[in-house]
Amino acid sequence: MGSSSAAEPGKASVLVASNRGPVSFAVAQNGELTAKRGGGGLVSGLSSVTAQDSFEQVWVCAALSGGDRTAARRAPGGRLDRIGLIDSSLPVRMLDIEPETLHRAYNAVANSTLWFTHHMLYATPVSPAFGGRFRQEWESYVEYNAAFAEALAEEAAPQARVLVQDYHLALVPKLLRDLRPDLRIGHFSHTPWAPPDYFGILPDEMARGVLEGMLGADRLGFLTERWALAFMDCCARQLGMPVDRERMTVGGADGKAPTRIGVHSLGVDSEFIVERASRPDVDAKLAALRESIGDRQVIVRVDRTELSKNIVRGLEAYADLLRRYPQWRGQVVHIAFAYPSRHDLEEYREYTAAVLRTAKEIRDEFGTSDWEPLILHVEDDFARSLAAYRLADVAVVNPIRDGMNLVAKEIPLVAAATGGACGLVLSREAGAYAELAEDALVVNPYDITGTADALHAALSMDRAERRRRCERLAAAGAALPPQRWFADQLDALG
Ligand code: G6P
Repeated sequence: MGSSSAAEPGKASVLVASNRGPVSFAVAQNGELTAKRGGGGLVSGLSSVTAQDSFEQVWVCAALSGGDRTAARRAPGGRLDRIGLIDSSLPVRMLDIEPETLHRAYNAVANSTLWFTHHMLYATPVSPAFGGRFRQEWESYVEYNAAFAEALAEEAAPQARVLVQDYHLALVPKLLRDLRPDLRIGHFSHTPWAPPDYFGILPDEMARGVLEGMLGADRLGFLTERWALAFMDCCARQLGMPVDRERMTVGGADGKAPTRIGVHSLGVDSEFIVERASRPDVDAKLAALRESIGDRQVIVRVDRTELSKNIVRGLEAYADLLRRYPQWRGQVVHIAFAYPSRHDLEEYREYTAAVLRTAKEIRDEFGTSDWEPLILHVEDDFARSLAAYRLADVAVVNPIRDGMNLVAKEIPLVAAATGGACGLVLSREAGAYAELAEDALVVNPYDITGTADALHAALSMDRAERRRRCERLAAAGAALPPQRWFADQLDALG
Protein backbone atom coordinates (compact mmCIF):
# COMPACT_ATOMS: atom_id res chain seq x y z
CA MET A 1 0.00 0.00 0.00
CA GLY A 2 0.98 3.60 -0.38
CA SER A 3 1.46 5.64 2.78
CA SER A 4 -1.36 6.09 5.21
CA SER A 5 -4.65 7.80 4.40
CA ALA A 6 -5.77 10.96 6.09
CA ALA A 7 -9.25 9.49 6.33
CA GLU A 8 -9.71 5.99 7.69
CA PRO A 9 -6.79 3.63 8.08
CA GLY A 10 -7.06 0.72 5.70
CA LYS A 11 -9.65 2.45 3.52
CA ALA A 12 -8.76 3.74 0.10
CA SER A 13 -9.27 7.23 -1.22
CA VAL A 14 -8.57 6.30 -4.87
CA LEU A 15 -10.09 3.11 -6.26
CA VAL A 16 -9.98 1.49 -9.67
CA ALA A 17 -12.32 -1.29 -10.75
CA SER A 18 -11.94 -3.43 -13.85
CA ASN A 19 -12.77 -6.96 -14.87
CA ARG A 20 -9.19 -7.87 -15.79
CA GLY A 21 -6.76 -6.84 -13.11
CA PRO A 22 -3.10 -5.89 -13.26
CA VAL A 23 -1.90 -9.32 -12.21
CA SER A 24 -2.73 -12.95 -12.99
CA PHE A 25 -1.61 -16.20 -11.42
CA ALA A 26 -0.61 -19.66 -12.52
CA VAL A 27 -0.46 -22.63 -10.12
CA ALA A 28 2.55 -24.92 -10.41
CA GLN A 29 2.32 -28.70 -9.86
CA ASN A 30 3.52 -28.26 -6.28
CA GLY A 31 0.71 -25.76 -5.63
CA GLU A 32 2.99 -22.76 -5.70
CA LEU A 33 1.54 -19.60 -7.26
CA THR A 34 3.47 -17.49 -9.72
CA ALA A 35 2.29 -13.99 -10.45
CA LYS A 36 2.47 -12.34 -13.85
CA ARG A 37 2.04 -8.60 -13.90
CA GLY A 38 0.22 -7.07 -16.83
CA GLY A 39 1.24 -3.81 -18.42
CA GLY A 40 -1.15 -1.31 -19.89
CA GLY A 41 -2.26 2.22 -19.28
CA LEU A 42 -4.14 1.67 -16.06
CA VAL A 43 -1.19 0.03 -14.32
CA SER A 44 1.13 2.89 -15.18
CA GLY A 45 -1.59 5.44 -14.36
CA LEU A 46 -2.26 4.03 -10.92
CA SER A 47 1.42 3.44 -10.22
CA SER A 48 2.13 7.09 -10.94
CA VAL A 49 -0.47 8.09 -8.34
CA THR A 50 1.07 5.60 -5.90
CA ALA A 51 4.47 7.10 -6.48
CA GLN A 52 3.45 10.72 -6.03
CA ASP A 53 0.69 10.90 -3.50
CA SER A 54 -0.15 9.91 -0.01
CA PHE A 55 -3.48 8.44 -1.06
CA GLU A 56 -4.31 4.93 -0.16
CA GLN A 57 -5.43 3.08 -3.26
CA VAL A 58 -6.89 -0.20 -4.21
CA TRP A 59 -7.62 -1.91 -7.49
CA VAL A 60 -10.64 -4.22 -7.48
CA CYS A 61 -10.73 -6.89 -10.20
CA ALA A 62 -12.13 -10.37 -10.84
CA ALA A 63 -10.29 -13.66 -10.44
CA LEU A 64 -10.40 -14.88 -14.06
CA SER A 65 -8.46 -18.15 -13.98
CA GLY A 66 -8.04 -21.10 -11.62
CA GLY A 67 -4.72 -19.63 -10.50
CA ASP A 68 -6.35 -16.27 -9.76
CA ARG A 69 -9.06 -17.98 -7.79
CA THR A 70 -6.53 -19.88 -5.68
CA ALA A 71 -4.69 -16.63 -4.99
CA ALA A 72 -7.89 -14.76 -4.10
CA ARG A 73 -8.92 -17.54 -1.70
CA ARG A 74 -5.56 -17.58 0.05
CA ALA A 75 -5.61 -13.85 0.71
CA PRO A 76 -7.90 -12.68 3.51
CA GLY A 77 -10.58 -10.47 1.96
CA GLY A 78 -8.99 -11.11 -1.44
CA ARG A 79 -6.29 -8.51 -0.64
CA LEU A 80 -3.34 -10.01 -2.48
CA ASP A 81 -0.90 -7.31 -1.39
CA ARG A 82 -1.51 -7.98 2.29
CA ILE A 83 -0.08 -11.49 2.27
CA GLY A 84 2.81 -10.74 -0.04
CA LEU A 85 1.34 -12.46 -3.11
CA ILE A 86 2.24 -9.31 -5.01
CA ASP A 87 4.36 -6.40 -3.96
CA SER A 88 2.70 -3.87 -1.75
CA SER A 89 3.08 -0.99 -4.20
CA LEU A 90 0.17 -2.38 -6.20
CA PRO A 91 -2.71 -2.98 -3.80
CA VAL A 92 -5.18 -5.39 -5.37
CA ARG A 93 -8.41 -6.93 -4.17
CA MET A 94 -9.33 -9.88 -6.37
CA LEU A 95 -12.94 -11.03 -6.29
CA ASP A 96 -13.62 -14.73 -6.20
CA ILE A 97 -16.91 -14.70 -8.10
CA GLU A 98 -18.67 -18.03 -8.62
CA PRO A 99 -17.32 -19.43 -11.94
CA GLU A 100 -20.75 -19.92 -13.60
CA THR A 101 -21.77 -16.38 -12.70
CA LEU A 102 -18.49 -15.02 -14.00
CA HIS A 103 -18.80 -17.05 -17.20
CA ARG A 104 -22.29 -15.73 -17.94
CA ALA A 105 -21.40 -12.15 -17.01
CA TYR A 106 -18.05 -12.02 -18.85
CA ASN A 107 -18.55 -14.30 -21.84
CA ALA A 108 -22.29 -14.17 -22.50
CA VAL A 109 -23.21 -10.61 -21.58
CA ALA A 110 -20.06 -8.48 -21.62
CA ASN A 111 -18.16 -10.06 -24.52
CA SER A 112 -20.91 -11.68 -26.61
CA THR A 113 -23.51 -8.96 -26.20
CA LEU A 114 -22.21 -5.57 -25.09
CA TRP A 115 -18.91 -5.84 -26.98
CA PHE A 116 -20.76 -7.08 -30.09
CA THR A 117 -23.22 -4.21 -29.83
CA HIS A 118 -20.67 -1.44 -29.43
CA HIS A 119 -18.47 -2.86 -32.20
CA MET A 120 -21.50 -3.66 -34.39
CA LEU A 121 -20.39 -7.24 -34.92
CA TYR A 122 -23.69 -9.08 -35.29
CA ALA A 123 -24.72 -10.89 -38.46
CA THR A 124 -28.23 -9.57 -37.76
CA PRO A 125 -30.34 -11.92 -39.92
CA VAL A 126 -29.51 -14.69 -37.43
CA SER A 127 -28.16 -13.12 -34.28
CA PRO A 128 -28.62 -11.96 -31.62
CA ALA A 129 -31.77 -13.75 -30.42
CA PHE A 130 -32.61 -12.73 -26.86
CA GLY A 131 -34.71 -15.38 -25.14
CA GLY A 132 -35.10 -16.79 -21.66
CA ARG A 133 -31.50 -17.89 -21.48
CA PHE A 134 -30.30 -14.37 -22.05
CA ARG A 135 -32.45 -13.15 -19.17
CA GLN A 136 -30.66 -15.61 -16.89
CA GLU A 137 -27.30 -14.50 -18.20
CA TRP A 138 -28.29 -10.94 -17.52
CA GLU A 139 -29.12 -11.86 -13.91
CA SER A 140 -25.54 -13.10 -13.57
CA TYR A 141 -24.25 -9.86 -15.05
CA VAL A 142 -26.23 -7.94 -12.40
CA GLU A 143 -24.86 -10.23 -9.67
CA TYR A 144 -21.28 -9.82 -10.87
CA ASN A 145 -21.65 -6.01 -11.03
CA ALA A 146 -23.14 -6.09 -7.52
CA ALA A 147 -20.11 -8.02 -6.22
CA PHE A 148 -17.87 -5.22 -7.50
CA ALA A 149 -20.10 -2.51 -6.05
CA GLU A 150 -20.08 -4.21 -2.64
CA ALA A 151 -16.31 -4.65 -2.62
CA LEU A 152 -15.77 -1.02 -3.63
CA ALA A 153 -18.20 0.18 -0.97
CA GLU A 154 -16.24 -1.79 1.63
CA GLU A 155 -12.82 -0.56 0.55
CA ALA A 156 -13.62 3.12 0.02
CA ALA A 157 -12.88 5.89 2.50
CA PRO A 158 -15.48 8.67 2.83
CA GLN A 159 -15.72 10.80 -0.35
CA ALA A 160 -13.21 8.54 -2.08
CA ARG A 161 -12.84 8.73 -5.85
CA VAL A 162 -13.67 5.59 -7.79
CA LEU A 163 -12.75 5.00 -11.42
CA VAL A 164 -14.81 2.16 -12.90
CA GLN A 165 -13.63 0.71 -16.21
CA ASP A 166 -15.48 -0.48 -19.25
CA TYR A 167 -18.58 -2.34 -20.42
CA HIS A 168 -18.13 -5.25 -18.02
CA LEU A 169 -18.99 -2.92 -15.16
CA ALA A 170 -21.70 -0.71 -16.68
CA LEU A 171 -24.06 -1.25 -13.73
CA VAL A 172 -21.52 -0.55 -11.00
CA PRO A 173 -21.91 3.26 -10.80
CA LYS A 174 -25.61 3.12 -9.89
CA LEU A 175 -25.25 0.10 -7.61
CA LEU A 176 -22.35 1.75 -5.82
CA ARG A 177 -24.14 5.12 -5.59
CA ASP A 178 -27.03 3.36 -3.81
CA LEU A 179 -24.62 1.84 -1.29
CA ARG A 180 -22.38 4.87 -0.85
CA PRO A 181 -23.90 8.21 -1.89
CA ASP A 182 -20.81 10.01 -0.56
CA LEU A 183 -18.42 8.63 -3.19
CA ARG A 184 -17.25 10.43 -6.31
CA ILE A 185 -17.73 7.97 -9.10
CA GLY A 186 -16.33 7.99 -12.64
CA HIS A 187 -16.79 5.41 -15.35
CA PHE A 188 -14.62 5.10 -18.45
CA SER A 189 -15.52 3.30 -21.70
CA HIS A 190 -12.53 1.92 -23.59
CA THR A 191 -14.77 0.79 -26.45
CA PRO A 192 -16.70 2.65 -29.09
CA TRP A 193 -20.32 3.40 -28.23
CA ALA A 194 -23.05 2.10 -30.53
CA PRO A 195 -25.30 4.55 -32.36
CA PRO A 196 -28.92 4.50 -31.08
CA ASP A 197 -30.37 2.35 -33.89
CA TYR A 198 -27.79 -0.33 -33.20
CA PHE A 199 -27.91 0.03 -29.40
CA GLY A 200 -31.65 -0.55 -29.76
CA ILE A 201 -30.88 -4.18 -30.65
CA LEU A 202 -30.61 -4.81 -26.91
CA PRO A 203 -33.88 -5.65 -25.16
CA ASP A 204 -35.29 -2.41 -23.76
CA GLU A 205 -34.90 -3.31 -20.11
CA MET A 206 -31.21 -4.17 -20.59
CA ALA A 207 -30.56 -1.12 -22.78
CA ARG A 208 -32.08 1.05 -20.08
CA GLY A 209 -30.26 -0.89 -17.36
CA VAL A 210 -26.89 -0.18 -18.98
CA LEU A 211 -27.56 3.53 -19.49
CA GLU A 212 -29.10 4.08 -16.06
CA GLY A 213 -26.34 2.04 -14.47
CA MET A 214 -23.69 4.25 -16.01
CA LEU A 215 -25.59 7.44 -15.24
CA GLY A 216 -25.16 6.61 -11.56
CA ALA A 217 -21.66 8.07 -12.05
CA ASP A 218 -20.78 11.72 -11.54
CA ARG A 219 -18.82 11.64 -14.74
CA LEU A 220 -18.53 9.33 -17.73
CA GLY A 221 -15.39 9.24 -19.88
CA PHE A 222 -15.03 8.23 -23.53
CA LEU A 223 -12.02 8.02 -25.81
CA THR A 224 -13.40 10.25 -28.56
CA GLU A 225 -16.14 12.78 -29.04
CA ARG A 226 -17.81 10.44 -31.51
CA TRP A 227 -18.36 7.76 -28.85
CA ALA A 228 -19.42 10.33 -26.22
CA LEU A 229 -22.05 11.82 -28.53
CA ALA A 230 -23.35 8.35 -29.45
CA PHE A 231 -23.82 7.62 -25.73
CA MET A 232 -25.74 10.87 -25.29
CA ASP A 233 -27.91 10.05 -28.32
CA CYS A 234 -28.74 6.68 -26.75
CA CYS A 235 -29.75 8.38 -23.49
CA ALA A 236 -32.04 10.74 -25.38
CA ARG A 237 -33.59 7.92 -27.43
CA GLN A 238 -33.88 5.13 -24.86
CA LEU A 239 -34.48 7.10 -21.69
CA GLY A 240 -35.99 10.29 -23.08
CA MET A 241 -33.50 12.19 -20.93
CA PRO A 242 -32.42 15.75 -21.52
CA VAL A 243 -28.94 15.87 -23.03
CA ASP A 244 -26.88 19.04 -23.42
CA ARG A 245 -24.37 18.51 -26.21
CA GLU A 246 -22.72 21.88 -25.60
CA ARG A 247 -22.11 21.43 -21.92
CA MET A 248 -21.74 17.68 -22.31
CA THR A 249 -24.21 16.60 -19.65
CA VAL A 250 -27.05 14.10 -19.40
CA GLY A 251 -30.02 14.47 -17.05
CA GLY A 252 -30.60 17.14 -14.46
CA ALA A 253 -34.32 17.70 -15.16
CA ASP A 254 -35.34 16.02 -11.89
CA GLY A 255 -33.38 18.43 -9.69
CA LYS A 256 -30.49 15.95 -9.33
CA ALA A 257 -27.07 16.97 -10.60
CA PRO A 258 -26.63 15.90 -14.24
CA THR A 259 -23.98 13.35 -15.19
CA ARG A 260 -21.02 15.02 -16.85
CA ILE A 261 -19.56 13.53 -20.01
CA GLY A 262 -15.84 13.86 -20.72
CA VAL A 263 -13.59 12.97 -23.63
CA HIS A 264 -10.11 11.69 -22.79
CA SER A 265 -8.03 10.27 -25.55
CA LEU A 266 -5.32 7.85 -24.58
CA GLY A 267 -1.77 7.75 -25.92
CA VAL A 268 1.36 5.73 -25.45
CA ASP A 269 3.81 5.70 -22.56
CA SER A 270 6.63 6.55 -24.96
CA GLU A 271 9.45 6.41 -22.43
CA PHE A 272 8.51 2.90 -21.39
CA ILE A 273 7.93 1.50 -24.87
CA VAL A 274 11.03 3.00 -26.48
CA GLU A 275 13.24 1.74 -23.67
CA ARG A 276 11.58 -1.70 -23.76
CA ALA A 277 11.99 -1.85 -27.55
CA SER A 278 15.74 -1.29 -27.24
CA ARG A 279 16.50 -4.22 -24.94
CA PRO A 280 18.63 -7.18 -26.03
CA ASP A 281 15.73 -9.65 -26.24
CA VAL A 282 14.07 -7.37 -28.80
CA ASP A 283 17.37 -6.99 -30.69
CA ALA A 284 17.61 -10.78 -30.92
CA LYS A 285 14.03 -11.14 -32.23
CA LEU A 286 14.70 -8.37 -34.72
CA ALA A 287 17.81 -10.10 -36.04
CA ALA A 288 15.86 -13.34 -36.52
CA LEU A 289 13.05 -11.60 -38.38
CA ARG A 290 15.50 -9.61 -40.50
CA GLU A 291 17.17 -12.80 -41.55
CA SER A 292 14.01 -14.18 -43.11
CA ILE A 293 12.97 -10.83 -44.60
CA GLY A 294 16.27 -9.69 -46.10
CA ASP A 295 16.21 -6.10 -47.26
CA ARG A 296 12.61 -6.21 -48.44
CA GLN A 297 10.03 -3.69 -47.25
CA VAL A 298 7.89 -4.77 -44.32
CA ILE A 299 4.18 -4.35 -43.70
CA VAL A 300 3.31 -4.97 -40.03
CA ARG A 301 0.13 -5.62 -38.09
CA VAL A 302 -0.15 -6.66 -34.45
CA ASP A 303 -3.54 -7.43 -32.90
CA ARG A 304 -5.41 -9.68 -30.59
CA THR A 305 -7.28 -12.18 -32.77
CA GLU A 306 -10.35 -10.07 -32.31
CA LEU A 307 -13.34 -9.96 -34.64
CA SER A 308 -13.35 -6.17 -34.67
CA LYS A 309 -9.70 -5.96 -35.76
CA ASN A 310 -10.60 -7.05 -39.29
CA ILE A 311 -7.56 -9.28 -39.77
CA VAL A 312 -9.06 -11.41 -42.54
CA ARG A 313 -9.93 -8.43 -44.74
CA GLY A 314 -6.48 -7.02 -43.98
CA LEU A 315 -4.86 -10.20 -45.30
CA GLU A 316 -7.17 -10.18 -48.31
CA ALA A 317 -6.09 -6.62 -49.04
CA TYR A 318 -2.46 -7.78 -48.96
CA ALA A 319 -3.30 -10.54 -51.44
CA ASP A 320 -5.08 -7.99 -53.62
CA LEU A 321 -1.98 -5.77 -53.50
CA LEU A 322 0.20 -8.63 -54.73
CA ARG A 323 -2.31 -9.47 -57.46
CA ARG A 324 -2.92 -5.99 -58.82
CA TYR A 325 0.53 -4.54 -58.18
CA PRO A 326 2.74 -7.50 -59.10
CA GLN A 327 5.85 -5.31 -58.88
CA TRP A 328 5.71 -5.88 -55.11
CA ARG A 329 6.05 -9.66 -55.40
CA GLY A 330 9.34 -10.69 -53.90
CA GLN A 331 9.88 -7.09 -52.70
CA VAL A 332 7.72 -7.00 -49.61
CA VAL A 333 6.95 -9.20 -46.60
CA HIS A 334 3.86 -8.93 -44.41
CA ILE A 335 4.42 -9.63 -40.72
CA ALA A 336 1.07 -10.33 -39.05
CA PHE A 337 0.93 -11.16 -35.35
CA ALA A 338 -2.51 -12.18 -34.17
CA TYR A 339 -2.46 -13.15 -30.52
CA PRO A 340 -5.05 -15.41 -28.92
CA SER A 341 -8.08 -13.78 -27.36
CA ARG A 342 -11.41 -14.84 -25.85
CA HIS A 343 -11.17 -18.43 -27.00
CA ASP A 344 -14.09 -19.43 -24.79
CA LEU A 345 -16.25 -17.97 -27.53
CA GLU A 346 -16.88 -20.03 -30.64
CA GLU A 347 -16.89 -16.97 -32.91
CA TYR A 348 -13.32 -16.23 -31.86
CA ARG A 349 -12.14 -19.79 -32.44
CA GLU A 350 -13.73 -19.74 -35.88
CA TYR A 351 -12.21 -16.36 -36.61
CA THR A 352 -8.74 -17.61 -35.70
CA ALA A 353 -9.28 -20.53 -38.10
CA ALA A 354 -10.32 -18.07 -40.84
CA VAL A 355 -7.14 -16.02 -40.25
CA LEU A 356 -4.99 -19.17 -40.56
CA ARG A 357 -6.87 -20.31 -43.68
CA THR A 358 -6.46 -16.95 -45.41
CA ALA A 359 -2.76 -16.89 -44.53
CA LYS A 360 -2.30 -20.34 -46.07
CA GLU A 361 -4.09 -19.23 -49.25
CA ILE A 362 -1.70 -16.29 -49.56
CA ARG A 363 1.35 -18.51 -49.11
CA ASP A 364 0.00 -21.04 -51.62
CA GLU A 365 -0.83 -18.42 -54.24
CA PHE A 366 2.27 -16.23 -54.01
CA GLY A 367 5.05 -17.96 -52.06
CA THR A 368 8.17 -18.98 -53.99
CA SER A 369 11.29 -20.95 -53.10
CA ASP A 370 13.13 -17.75 -52.14
CA TRP A 371 10.31 -15.52 -50.91
CA GLU A 372 7.93 -16.02 -48.03
CA PRO A 373 5.24 -13.34 -48.55
CA LEU A 374 3.70 -13.61 -45.09
CA ILE A 375 5.01 -14.28 -41.59
CA LEU A 376 2.07 -15.03 -39.31
CA HIS A 377 2.38 -15.84 -35.61
CA VAL A 378 -0.46 -16.59 -33.27
CA GLU A 379 1.44 -16.95 -29.97
CA ASP A 380 1.82 -13.90 -27.78
CA ASP A 381 5.38 -12.53 -27.72
CA PHE A 382 5.78 -8.90 -26.68
CA ALA A 383 9.49 -8.71 -27.53
CA ARG A 384 8.84 -10.06 -31.03
CA SER A 385 6.02 -7.52 -31.53
CA LEU A 386 8.37 -4.70 -30.60
CA ALA A 387 10.96 -6.06 -33.01
CA ALA A 388 8.31 -5.96 -35.75
CA TYR A 389 7.49 -2.36 -34.80
CA ARG A 390 11.13 -1.45 -35.35
CA LEU A 391 11.14 -3.14 -38.75
CA ALA A 392 7.90 -1.63 -40.01
CA ASP A 393 7.88 0.36 -43.24
CA VAL A 394 4.11 0.28 -43.24
CA ALA A 395 1.70 -0.44 -40.36
CA VAL A 396 -1.82 -1.68 -41.08
CA VAL A 397 -4.52 -0.86 -38.56
CA ASN A 398 -7.86 -1.53 -40.25
CA PRO A 399 -10.44 -2.35 -37.53
CA ILE A 400 -14.10 -2.32 -38.45
CA ARG A 401 -14.59 -0.40 -35.19
CA ASP A 402 -12.23 0.32 -32.32
CA GLY A 403 -12.39 2.52 -29.21
CA MET A 404 -8.88 3.93 -29.82
CA ASN A 405 -6.28 1.39 -31.06
CA LEU A 406 -2.97 2.02 -29.39
CA VAL A 407 -1.02 -0.05 -31.91
CA ALA A 408 -1.67 2.73 -34.44
CA LYS A 409 0.24 5.03 -32.11
CA GLU A 410 2.87 2.59 -30.87
CA ILE A 411 4.25 1.44 -34.23
CA PRO A 412 5.10 4.91 -35.65
CA LEU A 413 6.43 5.93 -32.23
CA VAL A 414 8.83 3.00 -31.91
CA ALA A 415 9.76 3.18 -35.60
CA ALA A 416 10.54 6.92 -35.37
CA ALA A 417 12.51 6.54 -32.13
CA THR A 418 14.69 3.82 -33.65
CA GLY A 419 15.48 5.63 -36.88
CA GLY A 420 12.69 4.13 -38.99
CA ALA A 421 10.14 5.69 -41.30
CA CYS A 422 6.80 3.96 -41.02
CA GLY A 423 3.67 4.82 -43.00
CA LEU A 424 0.31 4.15 -41.39
CA VAL A 425 -2.70 2.65 -43.18
CA LEU A 426 -5.51 3.47 -40.78
CA SER A 427 -9.22 2.69 -40.62
CA ARG A 428 -11.50 5.67 -40.30
CA GLU A 429 -13.49 3.62 -37.78
CA ALA A 430 -10.69 3.53 -35.18
CA GLY A 431 -10.81 6.12 -32.40
CA ALA A 432 -7.18 6.96 -33.24
CA TYR A 433 -8.41 8.33 -36.59
CA ALA A 434 -9.55 11.51 -34.79
CA GLU A 435 -5.91 12.31 -33.97
CA LEU A 436 -3.88 10.64 -36.70
CA ALA A 437 -5.96 11.08 -39.87
CA GLU A 438 -3.83 13.82 -41.37
CA ASP A 439 -0.61 11.84 -41.53
CA ALA A 440 -2.11 8.40 -42.13
CA LEU A 441 -3.46 6.80 -45.30
CA VAL A 442 -7.08 6.47 -44.30
CA VAL A 443 -9.21 3.52 -45.39
CA ASN A 444 -12.77 2.25 -45.23
CA PRO A 445 -12.17 -1.07 -43.45
CA TYR A 446 -14.76 -2.93 -45.56
CA ASP A 447 -13.11 -1.86 -48.80
CA ILE A 448 -10.45 -4.41 -49.65
CA THR A 449 -9.54 -2.78 -52.96
CA GLY A 450 -9.21 0.61 -51.27
CA THR A 451 -7.04 -0.89 -48.52
CA ALA A 452 -4.78 -2.56 -51.11
CA ASP A 453 -4.44 0.78 -52.91
CA ALA A 454 -3.48 2.45 -49.61
CA LEU A 455 -0.85 -0.24 -48.98
CA HIS A 456 0.54 0.42 -52.44
CA ALA A 457 0.60 4.17 -51.81
CA ALA A 458 2.35 3.69 -48.45
CA LEU A 459 4.97 1.34 -49.91
CA SER A 460 5.59 3.72 -52.82
CA MET A 461 5.89 6.85 -50.69
CA ASP A 462 9.15 8.74 -50.80
CA ARG A 463 11.18 7.84 -47.69
CA ALA A 464 11.68 11.44 -46.58
CA GLU A 465 7.93 12.06 -46.74
CA ARG A 466 7.25 8.85 -44.86
CA ARG A 467 9.77 9.83 -42.20
CA ARG A 468 8.14 13.26 -41.77
CA ARG A 469 4.73 11.70 -41.38
CA CYS A 470 6.08 9.04 -39.04
CA GLU A 471 7.57 11.69 -36.77
CA ARG A 472 4.31 13.60 -36.61
CA LEU A 473 2.39 10.40 -35.91
CA ALA A 474 4.88 9.56 -33.17
CA ALA A 475 4.45 12.98 -31.56
CA ALA A 476 0.66 12.68 -31.68
CA GLY A 477 0.83 9.16 -30.25
CA ALA A 478 2.96 10.26 -27.30
CA ALA A 479 0.94 13.40 -26.54
CA LEU A 480 -1.40 11.90 -23.96
CA PRO A 481 0.44 9.31 -21.90
CA PRO A 482 -1.60 7.03 -19.63
CA GLN A 483 -0.38 8.75 -16.48
CA ARG A 484 -1.91 11.97 -17.71
CA TRP A 485 -5.10 10.22 -18.86
CA PHE A 486 -5.48 8.78 -15.38
CA ALA A 487 -4.64 11.99 -13.52
CA ASP A 488 -7.05 14.03 -15.68
CA GLN A 489 -9.91 11.77 -14.75
CA LEU A 490 -9.12 11.89 -11.08
CA ASP A 491 -8.89 15.69 -11.23
CA ALA A 492 -12.19 15.91 -13.07
CA LEU A 493 -13.87 14.10 -10.18
CA GLY A 494 -12.73 16.88 -7.87
C1 G6P B 1 -10.39 -4.40 -24.66
C2 G6P B 1 -11.27 -3.99 -23.49
C3 G6P B 1 -10.58 -4.31 -22.18
C4 G6P B 1 -10.14 -5.76 -22.18
C5 G6P B 1 -9.23 -6.05 -23.38
C6 G6P B 1 -8.78 -7.52 -23.47
O1 G6P B 1 -9.31 -3.56 -24.77
O2 G6P B 1 -11.60 -2.63 -23.56
O3 G6P B 1 -11.45 -4.07 -21.09
O4 G6P B 1 -9.47 -6.10 -20.98
O5 G6P B 1 -9.96 -5.73 -24.55
O6 G6P B 1 -9.87 -8.36 -23.47
P1 G6P B 1 -10.06 -9.48 -22.37
O7 G6P B 1 -11.45 -10.04 -22.63
O8 G6P B 1 -8.98 -10.48 -22.63
O9 G6P B 1 -9.92 -8.84 -21.03
